[in-house]
Amino acid sequence: MGQEKVVGKPVLRKEGVAKVRGRARYIDDLTMPGMLHGATVRSCIARGKILGIEFGDGIAWDQFVIVTATDIPGINEIAMINHDWPCLAAEVVNHPEEPIVLLAHPDRHMLPKAVAAVRIRYEEWPAVFSIEESEQCDPVVWGEDNVFKSYLMEKGDVDTVWAQADRIVEGEYTTGAQEHLYIENNGAIATYSMEDGLTVWGSMQCPFYVHKSLVKMTGLAEEKVRIIQAETGGAFGGKEDYPSMIGAHAALLAMKSGRPVKLVYDRAEDMAATTKRHPSRIRHRTAVTRDGKLLGAEIEIALDGGAYSTLSSTVLSRSTIHAGGPYFWPNIRIRSKAFATNHPPYGAFRGFGAPQSLFAMERHMDHIAEVLGMAPGELRRRNLLRPGQTTTTGQKINEDIDLEHLMARAMAESDYETKRERFARENAAPGMKKKGIGLAAFLHGAGFTGSGERYLNSLVAVDATAAGKARVLVSSTEFGQGTNTILCQIAAETLGIDYDAVEMGPPDTSVVPNSGPTVASRTSMVVGKLVHSAALGMKKTLAASELLSGDSYTTEEFVAAVRTYIARYGGLRAESRYEPPPGVLWDDEHYRGEAYAAYAWAVYVAEVTVDLTTWGVTVDDFVAVQEVGRVLNPVLATGQIEGGVAQGIGWALYEKVMWNCGRMQNNQMTNYIIPTSQDIPPIRVFFEERPFGHGAYGAKGIGELPMDGPAPAILNAIAHATGKQFDSVPLLPEDMLRQTRVSEPEREEVAL
Ligand code: MOS
Repeated sequence: MGQEKVVGKPVLRKEGVAKVRGRARYIDDLTMPGMLHGATVRSCIARGKILGIEFGDGIAWDQFVIVTATDIPGINEIAMINHDWPCLAAEVVNHPEEPIVLLAHPDRHMLPKAVAAVRIRYEEWPAVFSIEESEQCDPVVWGEDNVFKSYLMEKGDVDTVWAQADRIVEGEYTTGAQEHLYIENNGAIATYSMEDGLTVWGSMQCPFYVHKSLVKMTGLAEEKVRIIQAETGGAFGGKEDYPSMIGAHAALLAMKSGRPVKLVYDRAEDMAATTKRHPSRIRHRTAVTRDGKLLGAEIEIALDGGAYSTLSSTVLSRSTIHAGGPYFWPNIRIRSKAFATNHPPYGAFRGFGAPQSLFAMERHMDHIAEVLGMAPGELRRRNLLRPGQTTTTGQKINEDIDLEHLMARAMAESDYETKRERFARENAAPGMKKKGIGLAAFLHGAGFTGSGERYLNSLVAVDATAAGKARVLVSSTEFGQGTNTILCQIAAETLGIDYDAVEMGPPDTSVVPNSGPTVASRTSMVVGKLVHSAALGMKKTLAASELLSGDSYTTEEFVAAVRTYIARYGGLRAESRYEPPPGVLWDDEHYRGEAYAAYAWAVYVAEVTVDLTTWGVTVDDFVAVQEVGRVLNPVLATGQIEGGVAQGIGWALYEKVMWNCGRMQNNQMTNYIIPTSQDIPPIRVFFEERPFGHGAYGAKGIGELPMDGPAPAILNAIAHATGKQFDSVPLLPEDMLRQTRVSEPEREEVAL
């Protein structure tokens, strides 16, 4: 570490100049000759049978292209893990805003009136809108019950611990839905001809997911479907699943009309119809000794999956595996279920199930500390995982972690101990403004869970351009987080050339190999490692050809050697395929083993002021200390943490989806409030760098981690400030007021 020339440096973003100069072209910037505009007619009820579709008067319907489920050439399905998500509702609808009819017209302004003139007659069926209702009623979607997926994870023998416990602490924690609010809404353009097949451009994270889904839906041969990612303005998981849907819709309209079709959602449609973070309800029951040793726990996780299973099973898996937090549990039993309801399907969102279960774990740790009369930091310190111990899945910690040090550093940087004592003293005095400080310790597994990376079997290539530059060929996409920059840094470092002598290949499924989806904090660690080995392969080839020797060549000499090589042999390309690090073994049946090749670790501290008159909360200071392996680019890494913390603050204190019979009511940015720069405290970011042996230049995952810690740290700080325990997010002033009113008499009763 330290001797690298490109890795670890804050080099400029590869696509940064184009973005700053307004030259980057997002999907809605693109037009094609003869292009039509598409729109979607959606269900206005939550659940029922479609009896008929009528096209009302006053519209020149012969000028419109009209598509329904009967126009689908292949299978009416958006390909995810299960086979339940229709591309267009055919006979029944299972949630509000479910797509039923597609329209296209040359003039985009003709569409809203036409959409409104399509009348769908339904036989309405009963629907459910909460985990509790779903638990108790007949199946609303499919299957024998309303459970999409369940897990049971056990370590040790938890049934024996209750008798040994000095205290048994119980708690219930809930979290709400969260909208991604990427700056750019979802959108796609499709073209189709018999000769060229189908091409779809779109705002997306995972071109090969869209490819797989469209092959299935169209029935076309794989080579007749081509997916190209357009410049993408933010994603956060929200463009992991949904682009397969909007891409399929644009494709159907293009195939029926024979013309290019653009389908772009406005903000209101994007917020109401696309996926969100799964709401959760999590129960903890923990056995502890008087001196704060965790003996065992039972954790019960319930997620609201919405009307179709989409990615719920894998989101639930990550919830389950992260539920015990960064602690050593000799005994634990975790049961988890994802329930069907008649909300629009929930999907991937940064953190992917872990923020929910870590919120519960970290609020619960503060409850346990309170019951024991122990400082929250001390309780955690006594139970943090150490090298050689095993996680809840039985994975032995082989990394040289030092979580106690992470916590000590977070406390020192935030002046935690002094402030905790001072705020408690000051809060005892009269006054309506109370201050508090709270912490959260957590972990996030990098890469696909369990055998996931093995099944993905990612392939990466590095080739050379005619000009003699190296080119990275991956399906990993840039959507603001820095993929292009990081992967070019890795290639440049490995090849021993300037950063400017490396470029990215086009994110086009007809050009790049399948290096897997851009999700799960896997790009730097997993794909980066493959770029590293492909670049090594290229270097070896050049050395074998005797055009380059040793390591001491300039970028100019490299370029000249590559050009000679290409002139001589016609091309230069090296590939690398994923191989699991040794000893990474996972038992899918019992959910035991190496859940992730590596974890990132963190301790966050939030300082808040609560105004008891308005119940307004401000976050005054935020310290984020993390160990993510080697930091490949300090500016991008810091940006990931700051952005994730801001999003976590939003989830905790601002962002509340208001539902009415399964439909989002506040689907606009005027009343679905996210924090702005005015609401965000200074976010002080610190990295402890412990290079991971199997990541590219020691990198682990970073993208999702910072979403996991802010909410519990903030609610722990609010409890410190107010002496009141709030166990749900989002926690808006009205929620605090309501919960205080309800809980006060109850507490008095207990005291009597
Ligand atoms: Mo992500 S939430 O793994 O796109």
